[in-house]
Amino acid sequence: MRFLPRLVISAALGIATFLSWRLLLRSPAAGHEGDLAPEAEEDLTLTLDTFLHIQQLRKERLRAFCSRSGKVTSPPSSWEERARLLLSLRVSTKLDLLYCQVPSTGMEEWQQLLEKLEENENVTLPVPLPYPRQHAPETQLSKFNLTEIEAMLGSYTKVLFVRDPFQRLISTFMQGMGSSPSFSSFVQDVLDSGQPNAPMAWNPLVSLCQPCLVQYDYVVMFGFLRQELGHLLRRAGLPVDSHLPKFTDTQVRWTYSWLSEQMFSELSLQQKKQLSHFYRWDLAAFSFSGSLLSDLLSTPETW
Ligand SMILES: *[C@@H]1O[C@H](CO)[C@@H](O)[C@H](O)[C@H]1NC(C)=O
Ligand SMILES: *[C@@H]1O[C@H](CO)[C@@H](O)[C@H](O)[C@H]1NC(C)=O
Repeated sequence: MRFLPRLVISAALGIATFLSWRLLLRSPAAGHEGDLAPEAEEDLTLTLDTFLHIQQLRKERLRAFCSRSGKVTSPPSSWEERARLLLSLRVSTKLDLLYCQVPSTGMEEWQQLLEKLEENENVTLPVPLPYPRQHAPETQLSKFNLTEIEAMLGSYTKVLFVRDPFQRLISTFMQGMGSSPSFSSFVQDVLDSGQPNAPMAWNPLVSLCQPCLVQYDYVVMFGFLRQELGHLLRRAGLPVDSHLPKFTDTQVRWTYSWLSEQMFSELSLQQKKQLSHFYRWDLAAFSFSGSLLSDLLSTPETW
């Protein structure tokens, strides 16, 4: 098990995903495109009240983190600095949405959904904006000027996608974005890459998404995307029901918790500790229940 080749893991993941799709196809929920019926393995239906309560808890945790971490809280006046800090932030000027684009957090399905919504010309937003609407094709927040950025930060619906950092790493490794022969040497590359300018594929979310600068309205969790985004988009006034795609995160969630344990056991204790340190901000800012890395964080109050 020590040098589990990537191929074997990918095959295992593929089979597991295939099996859960088979399960899904047999379930009565299949075939109802667009409704919010729970998926096969997802036996709870998220009510709006529960969704809002969870959002409240996630945002409180994030605010508590921001109040003690000393992170940047307003857009810098220098253009270069903004370009660096806001690199991963995307906007849809048609839908008045802002989100942070991080690989392996559900982005592919989310962006397909946005494209569909943008194509639908009849989108009318419930809340009029305090400045003239502009339909810019530009999606990168940092390309707008400071006045525009501040207006967007103040009025758009802002969404942050989060996922357990160790699972993000596994996903990156399996997509072959590291060229390492084993997971353990890949992790070593990650640790050696250092911060704050680590590649986007594994840079901590707190560095990429600037959650103390952007007051996100919603923090959505990988594994629950379909239900959470359904509530979110309806509250943002978007006609979501006929567009909501089949998010695959629910199906891979179980496979990933199994994989995490296997791959975690390939790492040395020192690597595990260093990884926990590397992701200490994400582990403090967000609640990843059952994250293998949080257990190792001996001194969570030091950054
Ligand atoms: C948009 O609305 C117009 C008039 O209300 C309607 O004729 C048209 O079919 C709608 N288009 C879409 C894409 O829903
Ligand atoms: C920012 O951009 C808007 C729209 O392009 C423009 O009207 C405004 O004058 C610009 N503001 C500054 C400070 O450059």
